[in-house]
This record gives sequence, structure tokens and C-alpha cells, in this order.
Amino acid sequence: MDHLTVVDHPLVQHKLTLMRRTETSTAEFRRLLREISQLLAYEVTRELPMTTKRIQTPMQEMDAPVLDGRKLALVSILRAGNGLLDGMLELVPSARVGFVGLYRDEETLEPVQYYFKAPSELDERLVIAVDPMLATGNSSAAAIDLLKEAGAKDIRFLCLLAAPEGVQRMQEAHPDVPIVTASLDEKLNEKGYIMPGLGDAGDRMFGTK
Ligand code: URA
Repeated sequence: MDHLTVVDHPLVQHKLTLMRRTETSTAEFRRLLREISQLLAYEVTRELPMTTKRIQTPMQEMDAPVLDGRKLALVSILRAGNGLLDGMLELVPSARVGFVGLYRDEETLEPVQYYFKAPSELDERLVIAVDPMLATGNSSAAAIDLLKEAGAKDIRFLCLLAAPEGVQRMQEAHPDVPIVTASLDEKLNEKGYIMPGLGDAGDRMFGTK
């Protein structure tokens, strides 16, 4: 996969525009995020390894394509990652699930881990880390560090919006991790928010402020 894939499918782009609008309600935002996460999941899983299995149709036997290898691992970067996770699990119900919790130390501005739980045999699975917003890239890069320390070797990063700064940070820290996103936005503002963006993804999906 390329280092950066922007999914320009019309349905993805239309739903993203609806999500960006200030007037979109929490309920609508959540529904759109679930729908868009399934379309993005389709793209990020495009190269999953396949094998064939002998099956019987009502007409005859055939060697039919099935997924090969271990169940994939979806890893949500808390808390906003959970919004992408739900829709993806509807599409890949047998996926194993992990969580990474990081907060930003206000003095050092470095990400600090407060929670980490990953599926077993991470080294044998495709690992898809999910976070709607790739902003500075600091927490995303730190989350990928933790996944690699836990053994992950084949990792992809899925987000809704990416800032050029975050893509560059990830490219430097983890050039082996392809990024799939619905949009490469213009820039970060001075507070680290993506512009034009959609605001705080966690607040918009959970109705907090
Ligand atoms: N996280 C968000 O939720 N929004 C941004 O714009 C940047 C980081």
C-alpha cells in the first residue's frame, strides 16, 4: 500500500461533508461516523491475504475464496477511536480488539500511556490502529510504538481526517505504516486542531464539551 491513501469515493466524501457541518447533531454525527467507518474499513482491508476453501453450492463443488491467516486486530486509540471501531466491527465481526489510552502531559507535551490492552499473537495479525483525527501525529506515533513493542509487525493506521503535519510525523516515525484517510486537510491551527477539520471528534461523537 502507498504511505497515504485518501479514499475519494463519493459516498465517503459526501458523508464527511455532512459530518464537518457545525449544525450536524451528535446522533447524526455518530451515525455518519459508523457508516463512513465501514467504507474506510473496506479500503484498509483491500489487501488482506486470501486462500480458497472447497465448498458445495446447490449446483456443484467449487474452490471458493476465503480470508487467510489469523483474525485481524483492530486497535482503538481512546477515546475517539471507539467511534470508528463500532462500524468496523459490524463489517469484520470476528476481529480481535485492542485499546491504547494516551494523554498529553501538559508540561512536557509528550503523550503518556494510561491504558494498553492488545490481542495475543499480534505479530501474526494485520493490526489496524484507528483514530479519527491524525493531527500532530504525536499520540498516533506513540500508539504505534506501543503496538510494535507488543510485537505488531504489519500495521495500518486508519483515520477520518489527516493534517499534513501528522502525516509527516508518521512518515518519519513509522514509514512502514500505511495511512488510510477520508481527507488530507490543509493544516493544524496554533492549538493543534485540524483546519478546516470538524472540531473535536470525541466531543462531537459523545456530546461532551
Ligand atoms: N483531535 C480532534 O478531535 N480534532 C482535531 O482537530 C485535532 C485533534
